[in-house]
Amino acid sequence: MKIAISSDHGGNNLRKEIIQQLEELGLSYKDFGPTNNDSVDYPDYAMPVTEGVASGDFDRGILICGTGIGMSIAANKVKGIRCALVHDVFSAKATRCHNDSNVLAMGERVIGPGLAREIVATWLAQDFEGGRHERRIEKITALENA
Ligand code: RB5
Repeated sequence: MKIAISSDHGGNNLRKEIIQQLEELGLSYKDFGPTNNDSVDYPDYAMPVTEGVASGDFDRGILICGTGIGMSIAANKVKGIRCALVHDVFSAKATRCHNDSNVLAMGERVIGPGLAREIVATWLAQDFEGGRHERRIEKITALENA
């Protein structure tokens, strides 16, 4: 699995923590920054990750800002992206099972690194259930194409 990850300045610390986790798990990833703590605009950092996932260059994306909200709003503007803003383990599992989310957003100012690691581990491990959920994903895709 190839993973793309980025943050804004509000998510730098948690991004570094999650990168450490991806390395521990031996997963392939690309870090899209930022490379310092300067204030940046989260849509600029959401785009390379979401476009990389939408194009198929990456299987999954992880986006982190202060709340996760700005990143998730920006990500879901990109066709083919189903970004889930997640701050609990139940939702991490459910959004993979039911929504086939391909991008995960989290807020560094909302949760601590331990919970964030559990969320990432759960979200990466869980498969999409398909079945009736497939039909619902198809309806989302139809809305995108309308
Ligand atoms: C940056 O101050 C903050 O607005 C950003 O990280 C994020 O929380 C936006 O949704």
